Amino acid sequence: MSDHLDDPGGGALVRAEGCTKIYGDGHTSVTAVVDADLTIRAGELFALVGPSGSGKSTLLSMLGALLTPTEGHVRIEDVDVGSLGERKRTELRARRIGFVFQAAGLVPFLTAEENVAAVGAFAGMPRQAARQRAQVLLDELGVADRATHLPAALSGGERQRVAIARALLVDPPVLLADEPTAHLDADRGQQVVELLGAAVHDGGRAGLVVTHDPGVAARADRIVRIADGRLIPTA
Ligand SMILES: Nc1ncnc2c1ncn2[C@@H]1O[C@H](COP(=O)(O)OP(=O)(O)OP(=O)(O)O)[C@@H](O)[C@H]1O
Ligand SMILES: [Mg+2]
Repeated sequence: MSDHLDDPGGGALVRAEGCTKIYGDGHTSVTAVVDADLTIRAGELFALVGPSGSGKSTLLSMLGALLTPTEGHVRIEDVDVGSLGERKRTELRARRIGFVFQAAGLVPFLTAEENVAAVGAFAGMPRQAARQRAQVLLDELGVADRATHLPAALSGGERQRVAIARALLVDPPVLLADEPTAHLDADRGQQVVELLGAAVHDGGRAGLVVTHDPGVAARADRIVRIADGRLIPTA
């Protein structure tokens, strides 16, 4: 069962094997990702870059068990996501994967701290523990003084920090971010990617960040390029 036998390096937390995604069928079908192979190990932050429509979000969604590949397999911590039923897959997402999206996606009627703590419920985290952990994370991310603010009263950069805190609440081994700096200026974008980098490197997580920003990509351990749904091999 274990991949470690043929993977002496070990530590692979996320693995795509021959992943293809075709949306729809017949004349209207769109082939978004073709035969993608990718392995991300503990402590590695990869940047996924490519033109609009090249398949970045589709690949990220497959890696995050949000989207089922038409062909191929995704493994999270050696578990074949395709072998799980709907309930187990939801549980895997809630407990093992942290997501950060382009728009922070905070609930407008919950404070920053409540937004972060709320996702604990999906992972079976006791309420009080979730609140305490949310406070610690908001502090670490430099927005403790905004904990009781509603999202509308936060700047774009602060919202993204809250979204990162939320993604880290349950201490997931995998962190996936889809253009988390798209709405930020260069400086704030840089800060956000540094926070993501620290979460991956210090936390021994596997991270993937989709970005159009060369400054963000430069902070990654590896840049993975995609064009027309195909990963471009790098030397
Ligand atoms: N639900 C869907 N149904 C049909 N086609 C889709 C769907 N989602 C994406 N596509 C198509 O799949 C291709 C890849 O889309 P994807 O969103 O993965 O690209 P992307 O690289 O993330 O682009 P962007 O940089 O603009 O976010 C595009 O041609 C897109 O139109
Ligand atoms: Mg996209």
